[in-house]
Amino acid sequence: VTAPNNGAADDVAVADVLDFLACRTPAAWFEQAPAHLDVLLIDHANCEKKAAGTALSLLYRYVDKPELLRTLSRLAREELRHFELVEAVLRAREIDYVHLSPSRYAGALRAGIRDREPWRLVDTLLVGAVVEARSCERFLGLAGVLPADLGRFYTRLLASEARHFRQYLGLAERYADGGSIAPALQRLLQKDAELVSTPDVELRFHSGPLPV
Ligand SMILES: [Fe+2]
Ligand SMILES: [Fe+2]
Repeated sequence: VTAPNNGAADDVAVADVLDFLACRTPAAWFEQAPAHLDVLLIDHANCEKKAAGTALSLLYRYVDKPELLRTLSRLAREELRHFELVEAVLRAREIDYVHLSPSRYAGALRAGIRDREPWRLVDTLLVGAVVEARSCERFLGLAGVLPADLGRFYTRLLASEARHFRQYLGLAERYADGGSIAPALQRLLQKDAELVSTPDVELRFHSGPLPV
C-alpha cells in the first residue's frame, strides 16, 4: 500500500529529520498519546487532508514554477493517499470521525509568513518542511508506544514524510532567489520547538503535552 521500506536509505532520511529539528518531542507527550488515541487518529486524518490542501493551494498560486507544480502535485496525491489509509484505520477501529478543533501548532507557524514575494512562497515552503519533519519525528516515537498494528502503520508512513520534508526544503532553497533561508528557518525551528514542548490545552498530533 505505502512505499516499500528501503532500509538504510530510509534510516538516513529519518536521521536527517532528527538532526534538522531543534528538539525531540518531550517524553510526556508520548506517554499521554495512547490514552488519547481516538482523538490523535482523527487529528491525523485532518492533518493529511490539510497537507494535501496546502500543496494544492500552491499549485493554484504558482503556475509559473514547473518544479513546484510537479513536486507538489505528486505530494498532494500522496497526502490524500495517507488520508485514505488513516480513514480506513478509523473505520476499522470503529472510531466516529467527528469534527475536531485544530491545534495551535500550524496557525502559529504560519503566522510568521511574510507578505512579499519571494518570501511569501519561501516561508510557506519552510513551514511545510518543518511540519513534515515534526510529523516524521512523531510517527517514529508513536511507533514505539502504540499497539503493534498501529506501530507498523506509523513505521510505514515515516519515509514518505521524511521525503516530503526534503522536497519542501529543496523548493524553498530554489525559490529564495539567492537570498538566505537560514534566518527564517531558525525562527520557525525555534517556534516549532516551543509549540511541541510547552504545555498545551488539548492533546493533538502536533500539540505540546498536557499539563501534569
Ligand atoms: Fe502524509
Ligand atoms: Fe507529508
